[in-house]
Amino acid sequence: MARAQAQEPAGRGADSAVVSSRPMSTLAGKTIATVGSGVMAEAMIVGLLNGRLVEPAQIVASHPRAERRAALSAAYGIRTVASNVDAVAGADVVILGVKPQMLARVGREIGPHLGAQQLVVSILAGPTSAALVAALGHDRVVRGMPNTPARIGAGMTVWYATPATTAEQRAQAKALLAALGAELEVEDEKWVAMATAVSGTGPTYVFLVMEALIDAAVHLGFPRHIAHDLVIQTLEGSTRFAKQSGDHPAVLRNMVTSPGGTSAAALHALESGRLRTVLSEAVWAAFRRTVELGDQLEEQLGANGASGAGGSSSASGSSGAKAGPSGSGGAGGATAGPGAAPRGTARGAEPADPR
Ligand SMILES: NC(=O)c1ccc[n+]([C@@H]2O[C@H](COP(=O)([O-])OP(=O)(O)OC[C@H]3O[C@@H](n4cnc5c(N)ncnc54)[C@H](OP(=O)(O)O)[C@@H]3O)[C@@H](O)[C@H]2O)c1
Repeated sequence: MARAQAQEPAGRGADSAVVSSRPMSTLAGKTIATVGSGVMAEAMIVGLLNGRLVEPAQIVASHPRAERRAALSAAYGIRTVASNVDAVAGADVVILGVKPQMLARVGREIGPHLGAQQLVVSILAGPTSAALVAALGHDRVVRGMPNTPARIGAGMTVWYATPATTAEQRAQAKALLAALGAELEVEDEKWVAMATAVSGTGPTYVFLVMEALIDAAVHLGFPRHIAHDLVIQTLEGSTRFAKQSGDHPAVLRNMVTSPGGTSAAALHALESGRLRTVLSEAVWAAFRRTVELGDQLEEQLGANGASGAGGSSSASGSSGAKAGPSGSGGAGGATAGPGAAPRGTARGAEPADPR
């Protein structure tokens, strides 16, 4: 499995909407449609244009609201249309960015118009490839799981491509998802469900820790704005230090833990409060919920047995998936252990957005 790769932004000025594409881009000459052209799709459009992977004329965005269409055209010089069907007509790659609750409806709308050569890249949190294939009636699908820093091009997206996709389409998906930050292709869809609990939900854990540290600094007596700056810079600096040094976090932590010092005293308090266990429980809880919501969507869409993706559980997603580094990729592997995921819940309930 490849390491996560980040794409450096090309530093295009914020006010210049028109750029030229790199001649060797895997997306050169390809038409990209966004269906559900909201915050995430816009982040992807910005990344694609900033990275000079495509020209504005290669992008078409559909949106039901006229003012949103006008805003997207004005900001990026892209073509916009009201109809989702018009957007997918002639597109090589369709980026699906609607809310998960809209999947069944939009799938019924665009599915009959998708041709065998078109690739659909979903960034919806929740639906498995089996659910996507069932909703669209189309088997060339990529299921991507981004996170919120994608909005500033600093996201982490883990993605899985159905066996029906071609090597060229997977290269296109890679380039598209790199527009949101770092990306990682996995061969076992179970890893996308696991990543949903780690990187997809991850910003929630980090923001809570951030907030708690800011409050603690205020409790000590710092004005809130100073507390904010001290904490944000510390988190950012520590992250960059860990990334650049490549050292295990325990090594970096031990570096600053002097015998009888302040770090040792703080660590004792954190371990007494079961911080590691609590974080692990949080990740397991998010994973169980991901599996539960995925199952719910699959049941509603009648995805079990869907072709192309193999159609299994939301954890494995695919009995036809290539063998992943962690083993079988079956539902049992994903849900085994103390955090075994409940299955088959709440038929007919409105699917929730997992975020
Ligand atoms: N935001 C994140 O950080 C994040 C992270 C991970 C995954 N995701 C996933 O990314 C997807 C998009 O999230 P988002 O934050 O970009 O949401 P969003 O801003 O609400 O984008 C969805 C867009 O779809 C439009 N829409 C509604 N009905 C439609 C229809 N029938 N046909 C076409 N478009 C329609 C919405 O229009 P209105 O504005 O008029 O409703 C909205 O502009 C979600 O599935 C989410 O799970 C998001």
